[in-house]
Amino acid sequence: NGILGENGDLSRLRILVTAGGTREKIDAVRILANRSSGKMGHAVATAARDRGAKVTLITAANHLEVPMGVEAIHVESAMEMCEKVKEHASQNDILVMAAAVADWRAQDVRDNKMKKGKQQTWNIEMIRNPDILMEIVNEDIFKVGFAAETEDIIENALQKLVSKKLNLIVANDISGENPTFNSDENEVYIITREKGKKLPLMSKYDVANKILDKIKQMFKK
Ligand code: CTP
Ligand code: CA
Repeated sequence: NGILGENGDLSRLRILVTAGGTREKIDAVRILANRSSGKMGHAVATAARDRGAKVTLITAANHLEVPMGVEAIHVESAMEMCEKVKEHASQNDILVMAAAVADWRAQDVRDNKMKKGKQQTWNIEMIRNPDILMEIVNEDIFKVGFAAETEDIIENALQKLVSKKLNLIVANDISGENPTFNSDENEVYIITREKGKKLPLMSKYDVANKILDKIKQMFKK
């Protein structure tokens, strides 16, 4: 168990958390990234550690500090993250997919740097990445997803909960002027098959504890 919180209320749980936006290579110098900061996933890892859980953090937010007492695995791309999640799923009770996984990657990654030459346009053919949550099917693991939505938040999140066979989904409204990217606060909905609940704006650490409360309430070992 972690250095802290050995007597915490989650001390029997093993939690696998993913965090950050994956980075997909285009050529030797360019990447396709997204605006996820990784702070939400790192907050979940920190809060779970503080409550005594054994935490493994697979993170693409490689600039963020790893919480002490948490085993961290650094990744770049969605494919790498997928491989690591699969490798660790069977040794964990809970999977919290807070990462913003790229839906697409470049079909052909160039080994060298693409020169601009005389051309005025550059089309990059993209191919679908595997859906990590969908790949974890045979494991007996409690699955928590996140959903960043700009419209019909609850309906869209519920669809993801059902199609990915999740136990719980945490939805964010990323529309308009309240981007939660890189913020230390978040305003989320916690949604299960039975009900959805909107939480007030609070720190990501407090949001993490609310999510962990719900997991604790639902998870039966
Ligand atoms: N996710 C995943 N693997 C992917 C894409 C997403 O495991 N290749 C996970 C995310 O980590 C998140 C959940 O699925 O927990 C929902 O991600 P989101 O991007 O909101 O949903 P998508 O299914 O990718 O649908 P879309 O982006 O089209 O809304
Ligand atoms: Ca997506």
